[in-house]
Amino acid sequence: MALLEHGLRGLIPAACVAVASCGGASVGPPRSELGRYLHEASFRRQALESSLTTTDNRYARLRLARYETGAAEDWSRLPAWNPAVSVVLASSLGGGEAPAAAALDLPSEAQEGSEAALLELGRLAFWRYPAMLLPERTEVALRSGELVPARYGLWRDPASDRVGGLVEVTLQGGGRALSLTCSSCHAAEGPRGLVPGVANARFDYGAMSADGNPNLPPEYEARLRRWGPGRVDVATLEGTEPIAVPDLRPLRDQRFLHRAGAVTQRSIASLAVRVETLLITGHQQAVRPPREVSAGLALYLWSLADALPPRGRPGPSTDRGWRVFSQRCAGCHGAEGQGGGLVEPEDSVTDGAIARSAERGTGSYRVPSLRGVTDRGLLLHDGSIAGLDALLDPRRGVTPEGPAAMPSHPFALDLPEDDRRALRELLSAL
Ligand code: HEC
Ligand code: HEC
Repeated sequence: MALLEHGLRGLIPAACVAVASCGGASVGPPRSELGRYLHEASFRRQALESSLTTTDNRYARLRLARYETGAAEDWSRLPAWNPAVSVVLASSLGGGEAPAAAALDLPSEAQEGSEAALLELGRLAFWRYPAMLLPERTEVALRSGELVPARYGLWRDPASDRVGGLVEVTLQGGGRALSLTCSSCHAAEGPRGLVPGVANARFDYGAMSADGNPNLPPEYEARLRRWGPGRVDVATLEGTEPIAVPDLRPLRDQRFLHRAGAVTQRSIASLAVRVETLLITGHQQAVRPPREVSAGLALYLWSLADALPPRGRPGPSTDRGWRVFSQRCAGCHGAEGQGGGLVEPEDSVTDGAIARSAERGTGSYRVPSLRGVTDRGLLLHDGSIAGLDALLDPRRGVTPEGPAAMPSHPFALDLPEDDRRALRELLSAL
């Protein structure tokens, strides 16, 4: 099974030579990475600490202060939240009957760390677990038909009639609210249906929030409208740092997570901690997800790479492109385009504001994986390039007056036409 061959590398139990190194007092079979993540607070703390690329931003400082500290304000004391949700259908948004609400089933096998059970749970959570509640006004506007989901680029799945990955959540006090799920931003319509992992480059969350909240301060509203489709600020309260939603399919290969690489992905536990803490901050630090949900999501996200061509050198028809890639790109992007390290903005000729953000900056951008890049929407951290053809287009390098001062990411712009075409072909096979 492809998943077992490629997908679960990080789950192979680490060698536990001495019992002490397995973190438990009792002698038993060694636990997998995710088994330890589920059951050992000290392991989770260590996974957090080893995954922070720098401790010098607010993202890191908040987590170090709240995640598995053992102190009174430790996030692990928050209630584990698994609310009843029903998926939002185009018909139910217009007043039709909503599908039955149900919480995620958390089978004991998942709690015990069974990979199959966690993977299935993660797949369901990706489409159903509430990631970010929408303000009441936005909900009212969506339901009244004042906000039309398609106008904001929310996807529509003809097979299920679902809209934009929205769910209706039953809140603790009995009220209800609409919420985004991971799939709202991280799934997109492809020629053969919805593709999980690909960013929805059409979703204009900023405009939807602005239109749905008529009483926003004018300068805040203007900022939201400037984000544009495919860009979201998930970091600041002020909305000053929109970034392009990344492609999650090559996630397993990325050494660094986030455009500015704030998280170092050392193993699947780094990702589980990242997902868990994202959900805690996404819900104003009032609840935490059950750990099976964050572990399952991490496992599911890693499995998305199985939908990409297998890693490695593609067939001989791409030899010329491979040579160009090896000379021009592999030094940063990895021999197989799997993604690389951190590069200062000046070295990739990109705007440095997000790299140096006090919120989640490291001073650099991570070099993204190029696997699946031809199906990706907006490129670069700020989504300033519309797609691969635009990135490779030599006209980016000239203005009517002559050479442009500084086209961003210029590495292919001076290639002879044949080489550029060969490179384009190679990239579509990665
Ligand atoms: C409102 C849109 C939105 C929603 C909803 C959302 N994300 Fe994201 N996601 C983003 C943006 C924007 C980034 C880029 C953040 C950065 O680079 O700092 C991101 C980054 C990520 C990353 C890092 C990927 C990488 O290559 O660096 C992961 C993993 C991730 N999201 C998982 C999830 C999961 C799991 C959920 C659901 C629980 C979710 N996201 C919900 C917008 C969203
Ligand atoms: C000096 C290092 C460096 C070299 C050389 C380089 N890149 Fe990049 N590349 C980067 C960095 C860093 C980013 C991310 C920049 C950002 O997020 O703004 C990037 C981003 C990209 C992206 C956008 C991916 C995405 O998901 O946003 C593509 C496509 C890309 N590079 C292709 C190439 C190709 C093709 C070559 C060779 C012709 C190449 N790169 C050479 C550093 C490099």
